[in-house]
Amino acid sequence: MNHSSNKKDCLAQSSSYRPGFHITPPYGLLNDPNGFIFFQGEYHLFYQWNPNDTTHADKHWAHLVSKDLCAWKELEPALIPNEWYDRDGCYSGTAVVEDNKMVIFYTGNVKEEGERFTYQCRAVSEDGRNFYKEGPVVKLPDGYTPHFRDPKVLKRNNEWHMLVGARDLNNDGKVVLFTSSDLQNWRWRGDIAGAYLNGLGTFGYMWECPDLFSLEGQDVMLVSPQGVEAEGKKYNNLFQSGYFLGTFDPEKASFSHGDFCELDRGFDFYAPQTTEAPDGRRILAAWMGMPDETESYHPTKKNGWMHAMTIPRELMLKNNKVVQLPVKEMQNLRTETAFHQEVITEEPFMIDLDKNHRSYELFIELEKNTEDISLKILNEVEISFKKQLQQISVKRTNLVTNERKERACFLNELRTINIFIDVSTVEIFINEGEEVFSLRFFPSANERGIAFTSERKEIAKITAWKMRRTMY
Ligand code: FRU
Repeated sequence: MNHSSNKKDCLAQSSSYRPGFHITPPYGLLNDPNGFIFFQGEYHLFYQWNPNDTTHADKHWAHLVSKDLCAWKELEPALIPNEWYDRDGCYSGTAVVEDNKMVIFYTGNVKEEGERFTYQCRAVSEDGRNFYKEGPVVKLPDGYTPHFRDPKVLKRNNEWHMLVGARDLNNDGKVVLFTSSDLQNWRWRGDIAGAYLNGLGTFGYMWECPDLFSLEGQDVMLVSPQGVEAEGKKYNNLFQSGYFLGTFDPEKASFSHGDFCELDRGFDFYAPQTTEAPDGRRILAAWMGMPDETESYHPTKKNGWMHAMTIPRELMLKNNKVVQLPVKEMQNLRTETAFHQEVITEEPFMIDLDKNHRSYELFIELEKNTEDISLKILNEVEISFKKQLQQISVKRTNLVTNERKERACFLNELRTINIFIDVSTVEIFINEGEEVFSLRFFPSANERGIAFTSERKEIAKITAWKMRRTMY
């Protein structure tokens, strides 16, 4: 493979759907964020990358660095699937810093005559550029299928802990724990969360991509369960991503927790992963995609690339709920103000965007006690709030059927809407991050309006900024 000529060819015919400030693969397929860490003065973010096709195969760790979480520089891939223990994929994992070295833990995926093997592997970098694989450090314990992957490593009470996502022999999703004092030798501790634990009933057949951190003294476990049935407005995507608030007790190897809550209400959000910024903020990145049957309908497939990462978000705890806000660095991408109005009196009301510029941030403040309001972005994505139903919903034109499909959740009152529209991505932050909807959309090039309708004159203030391109 010749990376630079491949990249040039692909970017040349990149398609009009290439976002401006979201991470996308130069070519091939992107999925989970991996190894997100601040190391030697830079943020490092890796992602699951198939450089050879827009299918889920040959996963490498693509590698990007950034000083400001906004502009990312692409480096050579950090991990390539070329060893006996990872030859069918260097699957997801995390990075930690120890003795000024970056230590990576990832899953080596191997398939032999239809059988799957899994190895939790270690790799080390001293300079954040060159990575040395050291091979497997954790083997599959008894009682689990080889769907056992995505190690997350963290330090608590002066010991290292590795959480791994698993499917047990009863086909129940679990998160299991290993502990180590030296990041080399790992002690099996058992399962700490999953179906039939901590008061949970059945809850999917596989739990992917666990993460664990604390916010304001509360422990938060993120996980991406597969196989959870839809329940009304909840769990409407093929796979889910959410969190449990609770208490991790490393001595007892337990995590007691409350209910599962989805992190994002949109169509495209999966496998989120967090890191701690040098100033203590907890920052999240997620794959703005979903491994499902609609992937083959993505229009960028014919241009040789697919999927995007969300913008980095800061996580905070508010009223016992994890809220997400775009990191404050995103404000540096605002260039000119494209639109600003204090009081909106017309009805319906329309903002015309510049057809030649397709990356915007919008901030909408609403009057108190807003009743029903709806806005339609480029005729594709429609956000509606219904006061009586206490519901916020987002509809988008379905890629496959062309009908409009909807995702919705409970919302008591609507105060603010902060929207990032970046060519083919939309991220909608409601009420200071109380709810977020992330989705891809593929509007026709002729559309350029944002249309508002409301029962009364309820929009207090709208500002729209043109956003700078930082990628490609
Ligand atoms: C989640 C996931 C992980 C796995 C990776 C492979 O999307 O299935 O469990 O490590 O993708 O690319």
